[in-house]
Amino acid sequence: MKKITIVGAGRVGESTAQIIAKEELCREVMLLDIDESVTQGVALDIQQSASLLRFDTRVRGDSNPGAMADSDLVIITAGFARKPGMSRSDVLEANLSIIDGIVDNILRVAPSAMLMMVTNPVDVLTWYAWKKTGWSRRRVFGESGALDTARMTSFIAMETGYSVKDISALVLGGHGDAMVPLPRFTDIASIPLEHFMSAAAIEQIGERTRQGGGEILALKKHSSAYDSPAAAIATMVDAIGHNRRRILPCVSILNGEYGQDGIAMGVPAVLDENGLVRIIELKLNKKEREDFQRSADLVREDIAHLPQ
Ligand SMILES: NC(=O)c1ccc[n+]([C@@H]2O[C@H](COP(=O)([O-])OP(=O)(O)OC[C@H]3O[C@@H](n4cnc5c(N)ncnc54)[C@H](O)[C@@H]3O)[C@@H](O)[C@H]2O)c1
Repeated sequence: MKKITIVGAGRVGESTAQIIAKEELCREVMLLDIDESVTQGVALDIQQSASLLRFDTRVRGDSNPGAMADSDLVIITAGFARKPGMSRSDVLEANLSIIDGIVDNILRVAPSAMLMMVTNPVDVLTWYAWKKTGWSRRRVFGESGALDTARMTSFIAMETGYSVKDISALVLGGHGDAMVPLPRFTDIASIPLEHFMSAAAIEQIGERTRQGGGEILALKKHSSAYDSPAAAIATMVDAIGHNRRRILPCVSILNGEYGQDGIAMGVPAVLDENGLVRIIELKLNKKEREDFQRSADLVREDIAHLPQ
């Protein structure tokens, strides 16, 4: 990709820009924020690490939406993060008006870009952005499953002592406390997880994964997670930028898949240079289907509050 714009130069936006620049996932990173001096400072700071970290990516900061022009991808990390004790849905109202204005600007200035939503509640706002743009679902998607799956992978590695490199986990559903970790689709070096852990220990891993964001928030107190979310975003960007056809859980617009319509939520999808090109439908068992439905019901409750 030639140019990626990150809208929102806060904690997640800055960390994301650092990784994208360092990994040279595009030629130019544009950091856009309402606070011009901060965004220019953040961009210059990252830019000055270039000779040390050996990258040629140009990093710029701006507050003028016009700076998004010619972006191949716009990543939205602008808006409020939840505070301890809040759910992701609690920031919906405040973030909706922010996202509304940003999507207006994307439509005006970067009408050919792909759009990756990160701002929470990410499933609801991905749905909103997709409806508002009227674009193909291939070009509008969100990040959450890559992060939730990375959290589950970390917890399994911490519990078993085996390398994260050998662990392949999967988390579907909405990015909330009802997300759906799938131990049946999780293995260590191709060996099913149940070979290594008891059912009770696996259940605990699932619960810790569901609460993964809250655990960080409670520990950090003044911010929610940003380093691991940035790594998850960069993984998706890498899949798109290098046309890897990776299968990653992404917030996807569902059109009948998993028995769901009129909703965006996390399912495994293929990412390549054209965006989110295919949804992989798994055969879930009864319990998994019920968990997925419960998660969908919660996302749908929030979608029902969106302006029509
Ligand atoms: N999907 C995920 O997996 C995931 C993970 C972590 C965080 N998040 C979400 O990402 C969002 C950002 O989190 P953060 O920790 O970076 O917050 P932050 O407060 O550090 O940064 C938010 C930034 O958005 C900017 N902003 C606000 N309105 C704007 C506008 N109209 N245009 C441009 N910039 C604007 C603010 O100035 C601020 O710099 C939150 O909603 C958070 O919940 C999502």
